[in-house]
Amino acid sequence: MSAKQRKMLVTSALPYANGSIHIGHMVEYIQTDIWVRFQKMQGHRVHYVCADDAHGTPIMLHAEKMGVTPEVLIEQMSQEHQKDFADFNIAFDNYYSTHSAENRVLAHDIYLKNQQAGHITTRTISQAFDPEKQMFLPDRFIKGQCPKCKTEDQYGDNCEACGATYAPTDLLNPCSVVSGATPTKKESLHYFFQLGHFSDMLEKWIHSGALQKEVQHKLKEWLTEGLQDWDISRDAPYFGFEIPDAPGKYFYVWLDAPVGYMASFKQLCDRSPEINFDNYWQAGSDTELYHFIGKDIVYFHTLFWPAMLTDRCRLSKTNGRICTWFFDGQ
Ligand code: 2FM
Ligand code: ZN
Repeated sequence: MSAKQRKMLVTSALPYANGSIHIGHMVEYIQTDIWVRFQKMQGHRVHYVCADDAHGTPIMLHAEKMGVTPEVLIEQMSQEHQKDFADFNIAFDNYYSTHSAENRVLAHDIYLKNQQAGHITTRTISQAFDPEKQMFLPDRFIKGQCPKCKTEDQYGDNCEACGATYAPTDLLNPCSVVSGATPTKKESLHYFFQLGHFSDMLEKWIHSGALQKEVQHKLKEWLTEGLQDWDISRDAPYFGFEIPDAPGKYFYVWLDAPVGYMASFKQLCDRSPEINFDNYWQAGSDTELYHFIGKDIVYFHTLFWPAMLTDRCRLSKTNGRICTWFFDGQ
């Protein structure tokens, strides 16, 4: 008697379209590829998808430095990445980009469902601003002297010399990495995803058997500490998707990055009539979803991602059994 054929959707973390694939990346894709090949050899129905993670400030500024548009840069990087993956025999069933029409539609849909369900709020926050470049500066784009050991040329979040962590406002003689100007402070309206609304769902999900023990423990710690609102907007100029009904406000790259898993799968489904997209993203179906990731991005995949999906996929009504997660050994 043959064992039941399982239907599995498998992903690897999406590499940024900002640099080359290095061996550390490749380890993750090779591990996933081996696992996928094994499952296929068992006779299961497995789809393995990935994409370039194409949005965000670093990509926008990198393109500017190269004298090309972000669209040109991400196209060049996509070709380079796909050639490297092919050279290493990574057998994706589909490879796409988060800068795609499918991803825009899905990210908007997920956002709007969350907004309609009352999970989005706004408030004004004050941030470092580059007065020359006329843009807000992420922490990594501010450098200065460490407030503790006084080492020069340290990033806005931590000191590489003494290990101190601090806010960019604590840096001595801060300057913008983009223009060299001294950052000022500026207020702007930001959009927040109220992660705390999902603590009951996430609490249940922790015990659903979908997680590895170590990850389960980490999640319990985070839940005990309390879940904070997540800032999901960035002001123009920003390379990404504009937020519906919020001109000049863009989704933070981490909002639409995991949606890129869905978008890549959607592209595959659109050319493969035998695969039903919704079957993989709705409650109560017999499909399985596996994300292979490194431990540095566990927070995004085990808190924000299942929470974001709840109102689209009705995860809470199935105790979150729709998702199962695997992690590489980084
Ligand atoms: O950490 C990273 O390299 C991200 N580009 C991974 C994104 S995975 C997924 F959520 F999109
Ligand atoms: Zn220091």
